[in-house]
Amino acid sequence: MALRKVLVLNGPNLNLLGTREPEIYGHDTLADIAARLAAQGNALGLDVECRQTNHEGVLVDWLHEARSSGVHAVLLNAGAYTHTSIALLDAIKATQLKVIEVHLSDPETREAFRHLSYVGMAAIDCVKGLGAKSYEVALERAALL
Ligand code: DQA
Repeated sequence: MALRKVLVLNGPNLNLLGTREPEIYGHDTLADIAARLAAQGNALGLDVECRQTNHEGVLVDWLHEARSSGVHAVLLNAGAYTHTSIALLDAIKATQLKVIEVHLSDPETREAFRHLSYVGMAAIDCVKGLGAKSYEVALERAALL
């Protein structure tokens, strides 16, 4: 039987993890995180694919593609688009995908402009504030869906 696929979508500036404000986001690179998720996915019987883009519309396209290719769940760290993107909110609603919102930091304890999450209005779950571990906890939850 084919493994269930989990797509891990990362938005703007997350390609800079490792050097980007490490006091907030930690020292792991996105490649470090992707490698750990792939190994964890193997253990959980999930096929995990990580992607990153700095472009809002590309995230929308990837969500549409995820629906047509029948992915099991999406872990979405939309970066700053979390707080601005009605297009992402609409895409999650339109695709009916099981999306788990992920953040390394806890946006609600930071600046007021990070307190609103459009992604969170349609996501089924959210894991935040655990650093790179947020992705691993989110993948555990995706396996249980
Ligand atoms: C982030 C939090 C967002 O507010 C910020 O814009 C990011 C990263 C996080 O993972 O903590 O780019 O999504």
